[in-house]
Amino acid sequence: MLDLNLVFQLVALLLFLTSSCLTSSVQSICNKGCDLALGSYYTHYESDVVSISRFINTDVSNILKYNPNTIANQDSLQLFIRINLPFHCDCINGEFLGHVFNYNLSSADTYETIAQESYSNLTTAEWIQRFNTYDSDRLPDTGNVNVTVNCSCGNSKISKEYGLFLTYPLRPGETLESISSAANLSSDLIRNYNPGVNFSQGSGLIYIPGRGEYLVPF
Ligand SMILES: *[C@@H]1O[C@H](CO)[C@@H](O)[C@H](O)[C@H]1NC(C)=O
Ligand SMILES: *[C@@H]1O[C@H](CO)[C@@H](O)[C@H](O)[C@H]1NC(C)=O
Ligand SMILES: *[C@@H]1O[C@H](CO)[C@@H](O)[C@H](O)[C@H]1NC(C)=O
Ligand SMILES: *[C@@H]1O[C@H](CO)[C@@H](O)[C@H](O)[C@H]1NC(C)=O
Ligand SMILES: *[C@@H]1O[C@H](CO)[C@@H](O)[C@H](O)[C@H]1NC(C)=O
Ligand SMILES: *[C@@H]1O[C@H](CO)[C@@H](O)[C@H](O)[C@H]1NC(C)=O
Repeated sequence: MLDLNLVFQLVALLLFLTSSCLTSSVQSICNKGCDLALGSYYTHYESDVVSISRFINTDVSNILKYNPNTIANQDSLQLFIRINLPFHCDCINGEFLGHVFNYNLSSADTYETIAQESYSNLTTAEWIQRFNTYDSDRLPDTGNVNVTVNCSCGNSKISKEYGLFLTYPLRPGETLESISSAANLSSDLIRNYNPGVNFSQGSGLIYIPGRGEYLVPF
């Protein structure tokens, strides 16, 4: 005789396994990245185009290409402005969208100076440390560290019109209004892509959509 109770339990177990399997695959955040994302880099007194191009592992010419109105040539970088840095946006471990840059250490570096100065707050010390074996207080004087910068490839549920996104570190003094007017986009659109964010918090990342290959520099 077949034990109906046992059959029931097996079916229930199977259903449970299938549904939890489905839920976890739905929860996998990304399965692919996109060819291009931009990082908004605020230039500061130590910035120069050649160093910045090394930080993001690209050529100077590639940086100039995405900043046609802001960088006339590699020797004339204006300070205290935002420039666009192009990079490939990858799906990392199925968990989030980002790019891992290879950064060459020099002797006075800490995760904090790398995040706040070299990468101009496109990432944080904590987020860099997650992808490196070195202790934060014991960085070697030479060698490489992984510097992970988050990015976005858009969200077809919000709009299919935007495929290029700018990873934008908020700065003190900015507001949703100042950002949306500089980007020439509606506040609602920017808020939809950044739910729950306090745009006046002066730090942290938001994602700003762009229509074409080149975003209006601001
Ligand atoms: C980083 O340093 C290595 C040697 O340690 C060198 O081969 C490489 O070219 C450097 N990369 C950059 C982007 O400067
Ligand atoms: C990055 O953020 C820190 C802390 O908010 C700030 O002191 C620093 O000046 C910022 N870096 C740049 C390049 O603006
Ligand atoms: C990057 O994204 C991950 C996953 O959403 C998040 O946990 C992390 O805090 C983000 N890093 C930064 C620097 O915003
Ligand atoms: C950087 O990431 C690579 C790939 O995950 C890893 O093999 C390497 O050990 C990391 N570097 C450091 C300094 O932890
Ligand atoms: C702002 O965007 C509108 C379309 O949404 C466009 O007509 C206008 O020319 C843009 N203004 C600037 C300064 O780019
Ligand atoms: C947003 O952040 C700013 C600066 O930290 C703070 O003054 C303000 O109260 C915050 N707004 C909200 C709605 O939490």
